[in-house]
Amino acid sequence: MRIAITGANGQLGQALLKLLTEQGETVIPTDVPDFDITDYQIVQKLSNLRPELIIHAAAMTNVDGCAKDPDLAFRVNAFGAQNVAHACLRCNADLVCVSTNEVFDGSAGRPYREDDPTNPINPYGSSKRAGEQMAARYLNNKLYIVRTAWLYAPGGNNFPAKIIAGADAHRELRVVTDEIGNPTYAPDLAEAIGQLIRTRVYGIYHFVNAGHCSRYDFAKEILRLSGRGDIPIRPITLADYPRASTVPPFAPLVNTRGAELGIELRPWPEALGAYFEASGAN
Ligand SMILES: NC(=O)c1ccc[n+]([C@@H]2O[C@H](COP(=O)([O-])OP(=O)(O)OC[C@H]3O[C@@H](n4cnc5c(N)ncnc54)[C@H](OP(=O)(O)O)[C@@H]3O)[C@@H](O)[C@H]2O)c1
Repeated sequence: MRIAITGANGQLGQALLKLLTEQGETVIPTDVPDFDITDYQIVQKLSNLRPELIIHAAAMTNVDGCAKDPDLAFRVNAFGAQNVAHACLRCNADLVCVSTNEVFDGSAGRPYREDDPTNPINPYGSSKRAGEQMAARYLNNKLYIVRTAWLYAPGGNNFPAKIIAGADAHRELRVVTDEIGNPTYAPDLAEAIGQLIRTRVYGIYHFVNAGHCSRYDFAKEILRLSGRGDIPIRPITLADYPRASTVPPFAPLVNTRGAELGIELRPWPEALGAYFEASGAN
């Protein structure tokens, strides 16, 4: 298959590029500055590549940054997705539009299924949901929406990297116990997307490593696996940790539609172990 990837220099983009190339696909990586999804020229540029599939992994992923500059968040995450979908329409390509657990408000009290109603509570979530909706308006079939959460990969600016840097700098940490999600290893997500694109069973998917935990539990496991189990972590709540964005407090996803197709991701603690093995990030 001839596959273009947007945001190919990011955590997921890099994992997809490696995996799909190894699988013998023709992969065309794109990213800023040459392939800026906010520039309308991108419609022509991407369709000129004649992809059979575009995996749209480009995004403004800094949740607090989105809260500080919602206009930019919508330009990138909503209108950018629309441009990519328009390119797919123009060249008759399938689209994988990667989205987030933050399209949900976190009040359900249970993990979110693919058909649960969305209700974002911050500009990151609103802009990503608008991106989903705009893509769906262009491509009412030939569209996979893949929501994920708490992504990390070697080299990324992610939660494990921040916890390790914070532990080394301060020798103690304060981490919230009341934000719950699914830590997800980008190479595992790439693997699941690699399986999905061969099914042609379009629709919404929740691809996260199995299980969920608090940021506090995630941090504890990061410290333990990186040989820093002696660093004390003080449990705090979201109310103790002022930040630009609100976050959905309990917004883990559950993978039901992928599981029906036999696409399942391993439990998050196992995936975190693989991350430390792959990156030597300790
Ligand atoms: N990271 C998470 O925890 C998380 C959680 C849930 C869902 N997701 C979703 O998963 C997908 C992949 O996330 P990720 O963690 O791989 O993101 P990432 O590492 O931040 O990578 C995103 C890539 O998109 C690029 N990009 C930003 N603005 C662009 C633009 N205007 N045009 C083209 N490319 C642009 C970035 O370039 P620069 O670095 O130069 O800006 C970067 O290379 C995104 O859709 C994200 O919303 C992520």
